[in-house]
Amino acid sequence: MEAIILAGGFGTRLRPLTYTRAKSLLPIMNRPMITYLLDMLPEEVDTVVLAVNYRKKQIEEYFKSYDCGKDIIVNDEPTPLGTGGAVKFAQQHITDRFFVLNSDIICSLQLEKMILFHEKHRSASTISLWPVENVSEFGVVDVKEDGNIIRFVEKPRPEDAPSNLINAGAYLLEPFVLDYIQPDKLISMEKEIFPQIIKDTKRFYGYQFQGYWMDIGRISSYLQVHEMLLDKNNMSQMIGTNCKIHGRVDRCILGNNVFIGKGSMVTSSVVFDDAVIEEDVHMDRCVIGSQSTIGNSTRLHNVVVGDHEVLSSESSYENKPIWTQQIPEGYPQKQIGNVIGE
Ligand code: GTP
Repeated sequence: MEAIILAGGFGTRLRPLTYTRAKSLLPIMNRPMITYLLDMLPEEVDTVVLAVNYRKKQIEEYFKSYDCGKDIIVNDEPTPLGTGGAVKFAQQHITDRFFVLNSDIICSLQLEKMILFHEKHRSASTISLWPVENVSEFGVVDVKEDGNIIRFVEKPRPEDAPSNLINAGAYLLEPFVLDYIQPDKLISMEKEIFPQIIKDTKRFYGYQFQGYWMDIGRISSYLQVHEMLLDKNNMSQMIGTNCKIHGRVDRCILGNNVFIGKGSMVTSSVVFDDAVIEEDVHMDRCVIGSQSTIGNSTRLHNVVVGDHEVLSSESSYENKPIWTQQIPEGYPQKQIGNVIGE
């Protein structure tokens, strides 16, 4: 059985971190986001098709030394084809029923149980569902008691929402679904293909699971997922190897070789490998890119600093992404594909 992992997005809402790296390789608790998905795959899955485009070389390189026990196919799209187009582009590798997984989710979904649910309902397409409070930011499903989905309602007002359940980014599809997708076109699975399958087959089901789910789309959710995982693992922080900490660190994730100078106070933040936080820095709810330097006595709150940036001493920033280098060629100015708003 195959699983297609959609890992070709630009991750524009996570810029500047995604100016230099594939979103699916962003560290979550010091290991690439995509490895959490690979850990989730059931035994039935023997082949993983990585649907890539932006920063595909990084992904390819990573998988040269990472063995997840499955065959890995790196399927490079000539141009970004969106979630639907990327699935179609992987068609040649699909032999039967298959999974499609967004690479940016961290969750407790058990795919074995999803297969059983799919079989029980003789479903054409089964999607994972997760309940949310803020329905007006998402596509919400109109779903019957047995899980049969009748329609999607995009960003409804709370009073108009048919449920509080949203697409959680994992699909189990019968191969004929591929016939619905035109080749070589930018197509959204969620917006263009799923409604058509609901209409034609009436065998479109939603599988609601328990536990936890987070979509790592924005910086706020990137920080939030770390808080969740620290709590879940009963940890107050995570420190990589060879860090030198002369100040105070609380509820942080530090990569390897991070330096924290005397008098500095770093709270609720994620600091990537080889970053230097000099002396008397106060920093809260920040993400600091790899090999960046934060100068003495700087004050940062809710700031994302890209890789290889240098902030001079006594800087002060709040609610701001920091990037002073060139933006990579072809990187879009705003979201493409499934625009869900900032
Ligand atoms: P934003 O630009 O911030 O919206 O992020 P994104 O580009 O990752 O888009 P989104 O969060 O909607 O993508 C959901 C999943 O689909 C992610 O795992 C993406 O990597 C993946 N994805 C989005 N667009 C494409 C695409 O054109 N090709 C491929 N292969 N994957 C895609």
